[in-house]
Amino acid sequence: MTKSATFQIGDKTIDMPVRSGSIGPDVVDIAKLYSQTGAFTYDPGFMSTASCESGITYIDGDAGVLLYRGYPIDQLAEQGDFLETCHLLLHGELPTAAQKADFDYRVTRHTMVHEQMARFFQGFRRDAHPMAVMVGCVGAMAAFYHDSTDITDPYQRMVASMRLIAKIPTLAAMTYKYNVGQPFVYPKNDLDYTSNFLRMCYAVPCEEYKVNPVIARALDRIFILHADHEQNASTSTVRLAGSSGANPFACIAAGIACLWGPAHGGANEAALAMLGEIGTVDNIPAFIAKVKDKSDHTRLMGFGHRVYKNYDPRATLMQKTCHEVLAEMGIKDDPLLDVAMELERIALSDEYFIERRLYPNVDFYSGITLKAMGFPVSMFTVLFAVARTVGWIAQWKEMIEDPSYKIGRPRQLYTGAPRRDYTPISKR
Ligand code: CMC
Repeated sequence: MTKSATFQIGDKTIDMPVRSGSIGPDVVDIAKLYSQTGAFTYDPGFMSTASCESGITYIDGDAGVLLYRGYPIDQLAEQGDFLETCHLLLHGELPTAAQKADFDYRVTRHTMVHEQMARFFQGFRRDAHPMAVMVGCVGAMAAFYHDSTDITDPYQRMVASMRLIAKIPTLAAMTYKYNVGQPFVYPKNDLDYTSNFLRMCYAVPCEEYKVNPVIARALDRIFILHADHEQNASTSTVRLAGSSGANPFACIAAGIACLWGPAHGGANEAALAMLGEIGTVDNIPAFIAKVKDKSDHTRLMGFGHRVYKNYDPRATLMQKTCHEVLAEMGIKDDPLLDVAMELERIALSDEYFIERRLYPNVDFYSGITLKAMGFPVSMFTVLFAVARTVGWIAQWKEMIEDPSYKIGRPRQLYTGAPRRDYTPISKR
């Protein structure tokens, strides 16, 4: 039976179609609401609005479920690798062994960046935030790879996708090297994606660098956990930028800019800073009191999520990865981990957090883990961007390939001055 919703405004009553997805809540299709009633809907922050139709990622926030193309995140993170996840997100299916070999080969052949990009870096101050450098360099890719900016050509779209997945880790590692004043390290294509990234970050020309397989596996898992997350702020930014026909490099640069904010990808950096600020377990009660004080604006970073009203399934895997990495690095006592675990324990039994259904999110343990791997705090969100690139591209590609896509153009509730006449400056 086809469902519909009845909407009444003033003396007008209209029926609007209700559409069902494969799983998840139904949506009321309000596309004709304005033409039929002259009214818009108002939903700041998209609390009840599905902005698109998508077959990529599914989240059930109440149950704490995250699926990429139907596969649970824990199965992918524990049994798969990052490039396999990239293939899944981009093409809809897990690759066969032959498809995987071909996909890995194609990504690997694109890892080098145009040599002139190395000089491009010199325009930045060494102490620039790595995310500022990433926004600039990824945006600049459109200036270096003109031959893959025609979004109407499926071949160019594919080449741009491969270039972004392959080159963003290289640019991220260059950003790190530039920041610490070390020479850039070229990619080494006999290494897997994540080992190659670690080597580009940590190798120096004067010594042999041996990738630690436990750390490489842990980082690969972190990349899988961050690869996509449905229509979050940065993904919606990429879609909106792409809806105007902008080239994919510009769209992904827009996504990186949005990811930088502390309420989104910047939360891992903010969470670690918060743990450092708390310092010791004894200071937790005073900090929790500040978080609960409405006049204070302090938030428990790494806690809460717009969609998850249960434990973020990524947080469970991240916590496990955190313990593995600390053990591998021989870190027996990390005061930050002690603070995090006690903070989590207290928050999960405190009425304030229970009532608001605030649970740890992926960023609560990721900072401690990345720090133990040797990354400076300012690189955390860059690592998130490396991982999320494939999700952004898959979502951008899905939109471009949908024959019904239109430029995104939200409307507004205008509350400014009504029409008034210009007064010459001498009379104001
Ligand atoms: N600490 C303390 N209180 C919180 C927190 C928090 N982290 N998050 C939400 N609340 C409270 C908030 O004060 C509000 O209380 P009240 O109803 O009394 O006014 C209530 O919970 C609802 O909060 P909201 O801000 O309306 O919820 P939202 O869905 O708009 O915000 C969020 C989601 C993720 C921005 C928010 O939970 C937050 O700021 N968390 C900390 C930042 C963070 O960890 N972000 C990473 C998200 S996961 C990675 C990613 O996807 O980027």
